Amino acid sequence: MGMKKIFFSLFFITFSICLGASEQAMINVYGRDFHLLNGKWNVIVDLYDQGRRMEVYKNRVPQTKEEFYEYSFENGIRLNVPGDWNSQSSELKYYEGTVWYGRHFVANLSPDKRQFLYFGAVSYRCRVYLNGKEVASHEGGFTPFQVEVTDVLLEGDNFLVVEVNNTRSVDAIPAMAFDWWNYGGITRDVMLVTTPRLFIRDYFVRLDSVQKDLIHATVTLSAKGVRDVRIEIPELNIERTLQTNEEGVGRASLKVRKLELWEPEKARLYKVVITSEENKIEEEIGFRQITVNGTSILVNGNPVFMRSVSFHEEIPQRMGRAFSEADASMLLNEAKALGVNMIRLAHYPQNEYIVRMAEKMGIILWQEIPIWQGIDFEDRGTLDKARTMLREMINRDKNRCAVCFWGVANETKPSDARNAFLLSLLKMGRSMDCSRLYVAAFDLVYFNKNTRHFEMDDPFTANLDVVAVNKYMGWYHPWPLSPEEAVWDVVPDKPLIISEFGGEALYGQHGDEEVASSWSEEYQAKLYKDNIEMFNHIPNLCGVSPWILFDFRSPFRFHPTNQSGWNRKGLLSDQGLRKKAWYIMHDYYQKKKYIK
Ligand code: GCU
Repeated sequence: MGMKKIFFSLFFITFSICLGASEQAMINVYGRDFHLLNGKWNVIVDLYDQGRRMEVYKNRVPQTKEEFYEYSFENGIRLNVPGDWNSQSSELKYYEGTVWYGRHFVANLSPDKRQFLYFGAVSYRCRVYLNGKEVASHEGGFTPFQVEVTDVLLEGDNFLVVEVNNTRSVDAIPAMAFDWWNYGGITRDVMLVTTPRLFIRDYFVRLDSVQKDLIHATVTLSAKGVRDVRIEIPELNIERTLQTNEEGVGRASLKVRKLELWEPEKARLYKVVITSEENKIEEEIGFRQITVNGTSILVNGNPVFMRSVSFHEEIPQRMGRAFSEADASMLLNEAKALGVNMIRLAHYPQNEYIVRMAEKMGIILWQEIPIWQGIDFEDRGTLDKARTMLREMINRDKNRCAVCFWGVANETKPSDARNAFLLSLLKMGRSMDCSRLYVAAFDLVYFNKNTRHFEMDDPFTANLDVVAVNKYMGWYHPWPLSPEEAVWDVVPDKPLIISEFGGEALYGQHGDEEVASSWSEEYQAKLYKDNIEMFNHIPNLCGVSPWILFDFRSPFRFHPTNQSGWNRKGLLSDQGLRKKAWYIMHDYYQKKKYIK
């Protein structure tokens, strides 16, 4: 185990034990009583990790003539929260290390309220300090966490410090090399959430997987004990009082009439109101069924071809992480313009604005945790982290009917350790939520020269509801035969999604459509035409997802003119300009809309 790994492991063992790891985040935080702590925070860039030794989180100022401190949060660099640091300062573009964020905020204490600090995401690991005391830690750059601060908040002024570190490590998820920018920072909203003493901590309201007139509701209160909770769906004339059990969990199954189902491109949502003795929370929830039947994917019992596209949580024009409602709107409307009914949110859970807005737009979502290529499947600690990320992802979005797929891996190499690791994730996921399909993307399809078919041998696929394949025919893999002859014989008894295909082109660069190194729009366009032809010869194909909507930043895309730190597989340039291939894909989706 390298020194770095030892350091980080010790770092987090001490953290979680002595200071209390973070809590599972409450759901529907935007539907609660919250105060945003966004804005300019003061920061200290701590390249050599000296800040903890210096106890900078105590934010001391000299009290005597003799005292002095070699740090201050005042009058230094300031960074926007939410936001990655890489795009906010040219000095931090490639920065990997620790940054200390600090800010004051005012709190009002009340004996009948509880207060929580809630973080939408912090990339990649962090420790949280309040008024000089360490209160929590969290690892994982793409899921929310919270910490109760009711008993450490001060009336009036409080000083909050977050120690953020984005250094890659072999036991992290993702690990040492991944094809996207290693953005660091407090990359999503931060808020102070106030709740009654006894509040509605969690709920899961969903349609039965078989009966279209039966809704199941599970409500969890913040304290154990038998209590009444009311659930209302006014438009369905539902008003039911359910009783929680000794654990504080209440369950009900509600027969409904005239329920209009949510479906792609027809986003029917219903107001759901949940009331306990001290707390009332409401949100819009959609009801649908997602199942498989043979080699078809069914939405509400009807086969649907997934016209998908992927995007990273990145605004290329700003060269930074997407984090706002406006960012979500830009990304989703560009996807919608392509003609999609699904988006594969690559390669990690993306922010709640994107998920909620996609749901309102009637776009199916595939969400995944960043088990991306070189993960250390032998490391128990890594499995625990993966389980935490999956649990946090499912917990946050379980009421989002648009989410139809939970993805557990991307391009993992077969091994007993990998199988055991992923089986553990699937088992846990299905125990939390069996109302969605579980999927993983593989890059193991090969051309069998004897059968002259495309085939794949990975028995692990038997554990998945849907199998997905990333295959770059015409880019990483030259054609072994013409696209018209390309017959696939890959998991023939299951629904198959081509979860990635494509090739690079620099917008505005033109050249020979037969020469890959031209990085030309013509080459990319012909590649798309050839792949679309191949799709016609995959009998169990249920969807395709071109890689990728926008050019995106990647530190190992070195070519100085064609790439210069960008992966150019976008259908849109980093400025949002449509390449020729965009029109090929748009045309294909227009036709697919009408033939299932
Ligand atoms: C892989 C991987 C992507 C990557 C892509 C590429 O399939 O899943 O994350 O960006 O290939 O090489 O462009």
